[in-house]
Amino acid sequence: MVAIDGPSGAGKSTVARQLARHLGFSFLDTGAMYRAVTWRFLEAGCAPSECAADPDLGRGSDGYRLMQEVLAAMQLELRDNRLFVNGRDITSHLRTREVESQVSAVSALPFVRAAMRDLQRDVARHGPVVAEGRDMGSVVFPSARWKVYLDAAPSERARRRSQDFAGQGRTVSESDVLEEILVRDRLDSTRRDAPLRQAVDALYVDSTGLTTEAVVARLLAYVRREFGSTAEATR
Ligand code: DC
Repeated sequence: MVAIDGPSGAGKSTVARQLARHLGFSFLDTGAMYRAVTWRFLEAGCAPSECAADPDLGRGSDGYRLMQEVLAAMQLELRDNRLFVNGRDITSHLRTREVESQVSAVSALPFVRAAMRDLQRDVARHGPVVAEGRDMGSVVFPSARWKVYLDAAPSERARRRSQDFAGQGRTVSESDVLEEILVRDRLDSTRRDAPLRQAVDALYVDSTGLTTEAVVARLLAYVRREFGSTAEATR
């Protein structure tokens, strides 16, 4: 298990995907799982942000109960790096701004986190994994052999995310993206359940000004150093 955590736009997905390919491990993008739940809540007409604004996260309200029912009936499947909700491939809906504006509120809900945690541990039982998210090294896989905290300056993270949007054919200014990123950072690192934290035994890597290749090379060296000359990691 290689556990990679860090804030939005630090390059975790790209780096983790490439690292997994080099190592022959599977790749688990846990942010995509929270995004899929968010997409489903939006489709079902739940209003997660209203609940998250409540100090008790809306527990006991109709909205909260509806989300619990929708999640209980939701089948989330990961196949070939694509995400299926109740049999429908929703991968292309995961990185929209609508989903982004709600995903921090959804991922603060303890019943959502508990369900995702179980699913993530289930995936890891099937073989070696590079998993990326916010609480991989600190909560979900505390005994992971390798832990990385991948960071980058907020301005660089905003630049990368606005390039992602441009790739989707949407023009969003870097300053708007920066503002949204800072809000998400605050929500993700101040929530009660599994906030974004660097695990004490994680390797800190600042990717500001580094190419993806340079970051992947750094992480490969970290894994291989401890893995010695054995098995998959030396390929
Ligand atoms: O990495 P990302 O931007 O795709 O993550 C989307 C959101 O999901 C992010 O705002 C925080 C949440 N998340 C989380 O709470 N825990 C994880 N392990 C992964 C993501």
